[in-house]
Amino acid sequence: MRKIFVVFFGLILGVHAKAVSYDVVPLPQSIQQQKGEPFQLNDRVQILVGEGLQGEATFLQVYLRELTGLQLSVSRKREKKVRYIELAVSSESKDSEGYVLSVSKERISITGGSGAGVFYGIQTLRKALSVGNNTPVTEFPAVVITDAPRFSWRGMHLDCSRHFFSVEYVKKFIDLLALHNMNTFHWHLTDDQGWRIEIKKWPRLIEVGAKRSGTTVGINSDLDDQIPYGGYYSQEEARNIVRYAAERHITVVPEIDMPGHMLAALASYPELGCTGGPYQVGHYWGVYKDVLCVGNPKVYQFVEDVLTEIMEIFPSEVIHIGGDETPTEKWEQCAKCQALDIRDATLQGYFTQKVFDFLTSHHRRVLGWDEILENHAPKDAMIMSWRGTEPGAKAAELGYDVIMSPTTFCYFDYLQSEDAMFEPTRCGGYVPVDKVYSLEPAPDSLSIKARKHIIGVQANLWSEHLTTEGLVEYQALPRMSALAEVQWSFPENKDYQAFLQRLTRLTSFFELYDYQYAKHIWPERQLPNRWQF
Ligand code: ACM
Ligand code: ZN
Repeated sequence: MRKIFVVFFGLILGVHAKAVSYDVVPLPQSIQQQKGEPFQLNDRVQILVGEGLQGEATFLQVYLRELTGLQLSVSRKREKKVRYIELAVSSESKDSEGYVLSVSKERISITGGSGAGVFYGIQTLRKALSVGNNTPVTEFPAVVITDAPRFSWRGMHLDCSRHFFSVEYVKKFIDLLALHNMNTFHWHLTDDQGWRIEIKKWPRLIEVGAKRSGTTVGINSDLDDQIPYGGYYSQEEARNIVRYAAERHITVVPEIDMPGHMLAALASYPELGCTGGPYQVGHYWGVYKDVLCVGNPKVYQFVEDVLTEIMEIFPSEVIHIGGDETPTEKWEQCAKCQALDIRDATLQGYFTQKVFDFLTSHHRRVLGWDEILENHAPKDAMIMSWRGTEPGAKAAELGYDVIMSPTTFCYFDYLQSEDAMFEPTRCGGYVPVDKVYSLEPAPDSLSIKARKHIIGVQANLWSEHLTTEGLVEYQALPRMSALAEVQWSFPENKDYQAFLQRLTRLTSFFELYDYQYAKHIWPERQLPNRWQF
C-alpha cells in the first residue's frame, strides 16, 4: 500500500519522469542544450506527420512503443492544446540526409532535408531513450541538434554465399544498419561456394550452383563434413528485401563477383570455363584457379543475361561486379583467351571494360574491388579499396570515386582478440574496436581533390567461418558502432573514450532486439560460457 502511495504521488509531482540522454551513436555534428523546460512525453502526445512521411511516422510510433510502452497516435491535422512530435521536410536543408531535431516544452520537431534526414532524426530520438523505460512520462531536455553525415556511402557488407542467411535474418541484419544510420547494404550474392540469387534465364545457377555437397572442416583441412549445404533467394524474396531496406532508406547494392570467384556458376554451366570442366561447387575457402573464360562470347551473353535480371531486381544505381582475386593461369593456357586482341589492356581489363560498357549503357555505375584498378579500370568506375587504404588513395588521386574498406580496419570477419584460442570463430587477423574507430578514410596526406573522391566507408563480413546468425552478430557488434562514427561523425568530434560511454548505452538496444555482441571491451560482462551461439 505504501509503495502504491509513493508511486502515485511520485507521478503527480513528476518525480518519476525519466530524462533521456543525447549521448547517441553515431555522434551528431552539433548538440546545443537550450534553456527552458523539457518536453514531457506521455500518452497524450501525438505524432504530426507532413506530406510523404507516413512511413517515418510509423517507425517513430513503433520505436516509442517498444521503448516506452506508449502508443501515440499519428495525425495529419494540427489541433489546439495537443503537444506534438512533428515530422517535416524542408527544402532549405543543404544536405538531403541531414536533419534538425529541436526540443522545447511545447513540441519536438524533426525537420529533414528529405525523408532520409527525417529518418535519421528519428533514429537519434530513438537512441536518446533508454531501454526498459516503463515510466509513464519521459522527459526530453530542451535542445537543438543539427546533424548531417560526413560520407554519402555508409555501407555494410554481408557474404551470403559461403554461408546462407534466411530472408528473415537478412532483414534483422538490415535493421542493424538502420540503427547505425547506414544507407548501403552490400549484398555478396555469388561466390565459389554457392550461387544465391535466382536467374530465370540460367536456371542451373540455383539448381546446381546453390548447393555444395560438403564443406571443409576448419580452415581448408583434408576433412570434409560431406553434409550437403545450400540455399538461395528467389527474385521475389530479393525484391522483398530491397523494399524492406528502402523503407529504412537503405540501398541494396548487389555484388556478382566476376570473372573470378565463379566456380558455382562454372559447376552449373561448365562451358563458361576455359577447360570446360567438370567443376564442382567449392568445398574449400580461398581462391580457385578456375574462372570465367574471357575469350568465349557465350560468357558475355551469360554476364549480360545475369546483369539484366539483376538490374530488374535491384534499382540501385551502383552494381558491384567484384573483380578481386582472379588468377590468370587458365587464361594463359586457353586458346580462346589467347586469341583475344587486348592491345595494352590485361585480359581482366578487357572483361571489365565489356561489363562496364553494358552496365553504363543501362545507366548504372560499376563498382569493383581494387584489383580492377590494376587492370585498366574505366574512368567512371568506382573502386572499393580492400587491400589497405593505399589502392583507394591512388585511385582517388587518379579521379576515381572510392569507398574505403581496408582489411586492417574494416574486415569484421577478423578477430577481436589477439588470442585466437579465446574466440568462437576460426577467422584470422586482428581488428579490435579501437582500431576500427581510428580509421581516417580521407587523411590530410591526400590532395584536396582526391579527398573529395573518397565517398564513403564500409565494413565487410565474410562468412566462411560464420556458421550461425549469432556469430554474424558477434563479429559485427560492437565494431559496427565504431564504423558508424567513422562514416557519420566528423574527425574533430571523435573521441574514443567518450564513444565507449555512448556505446555502452547503445548495447541495451542490442539486448532489446536480441543481437549477440562481443564483450571484449566490457570484461565484466563476459560469461564463462560465452561461446554459446
Ligand atoms: C576480398 O576480400 N577478396 C575482396
Ligand atoms: Zn579461356
